[in-house]
Amino acid sequence: MPEDFTRRKLLGAASAGILVGRAVRAATSDKPAALGGNPVRTAPFPSWPVIADNDERAWMKVLHGGKWNRLDGDCARQFEETWAARLGAKHCLATANGTSALIISLSALGVGPGDEVIVPPYTFVATVNAVLMHHAIPVFVDTDPETFQIDARKIEAAITERTRCILPVHLGGSPADMDAILEIGDKHHLPVVEDACQAHLAEWRHKKVSTLGTLGCFSFQASKNLNSGEGGALLTNDTDLYRVCQSFHNNGRGDTGSGFGYVRNGANLRITEFQAVLLTEQLKRVEEQSRRREQNAAYLTRQLAEIPGIRPARMYPGATRNAYHLYMFRYDKTQFANLRRAQFLKALEAEGIPASGGYTPLNKEPFLKNTFDSRAYRAIYPAKQLAEWFKPNQCPANDQLCEEAVWFTQTMLLGPREDMDQIAEAIRKIRQHAGMLAQS
Ligand SMILES: Cc1ncc(COP(=O)(O)O)c(C=O)c1O
Repeated sequence: MPEDFTRRKLLGAASAGILVGRAVRAATSDKPAALGGNPVRTAPFPSWPVIADNDERAWMKVLHGGKWNRLDGDCARQFEETWAARLGAKHCLATANGTSALIISLSALGVGPGDEVIVPPYTFVATVNAVLMHHAIPVFVDTDPETFQIDARKIEAAITERTRCILPVHLGGSPADMDAILEIGDKHHLPVVEDACQAHLAEWRHKKVSTLGTLGCFSFQASKNLNSGEGGALLTNDTDLYRVCQSFHNNGRGDTGSGFGYVRNGANLRITEFQAVLLTEQLKRVEEQSRRREQNAAYLTRQLAEIPGIRPARMYPGATRNAYHLYMFRYDKTQFANLRRAQFLKALEAEGIPASGGYTPLNKEPFLKNTFDSRAYRAIYPAKQLAEWFKPNQCPANDQLCEEAVWFTQTMLLGPREDMDQIAEAIRKIRQHAGMLAQS
């Protein structure tokens, strides 16, 4: 090492990633782990969920208190107040899960047989199932492959006189184009229900997603950034709608909350006190975890954007905060000696970097045809309408995205920055040996 390479310079170089870069270049020449070389990483990524003393103490208090149902206890109400305040919404209703938050929301808006609801094809099936549960018709609007979100530029063309609601998803925790979506909603007098099930603390122009539309829904299922195993919530600033939601999720009871007086149909979609208390305790670390994901994701994006054939999902200019429930990018095999995505994922796994190819095209899933063939749908809709549904519901950009997408889970962003270096290093290594891997 030259004499003038002082300790300070060494530290400076390390923090700027220069040394990491050199180490990385040396390692990329190793044989890929899929072909018998040493893996880039052997340590597991951070585990999930995070469990600390506060969770255990609070849980045990509910257990021994014996008030396990929200109609008896106070934990659900406390969580609702905290979550509403954190997001800047007037009302929060905690629910059994995210699916029920969506079902309740659509029910409160009166969505029903004969109606159409605009949805993205790039989402978890629950978004669409919530529409089908009301015997309404999902209308798919293609995906913007740059962002992985519903392509808001194509929504207006999908609106008909039967459209009742727009249901965008903030997929992976990255906000959908809410300026455009809200403008279309206003213009056509359509409520917007935000599926924020993956987007805890994400922001659009510094406002929390779920508070921008008429209603917003969260999931607290086990993989989510805020987690109680199962759980959900809906948020709204509309007091009348909140009351309907509250009643519907409590078997249609009136304001009294218990007893045998009913004002509408409904279901039991209540959260338990155990779920609620875990949420209140997990909430204490959600901000710090969220910041760490953002910092790691920004650092990772800078590295991955330099690798030909890797295109990290872009955020819209109005997106001021991404929850990074997923870290998503597109993989272009032509820049990797035509190494198929499945082989790329396998090679990554062998390097100690677990990744998935994400969703398949939801609009092409056979369950939709099966649902339209059901007795209920055939009773409601003319056969011609159901048969004609398939053609305009093609989403070619989404089809292609489903073949190119790669996801990392949120827990992979919770460790130190060196974890990001290893992810990038593994991808560079695979690219360098892609020809050999493609032939293996
Ligand atoms: C986008 C999206 N919508 C809805 C849901 C449904 O939430 P849950 O699994 O809590 O019912 C999920 C969760 O998996 C989701 O990711």
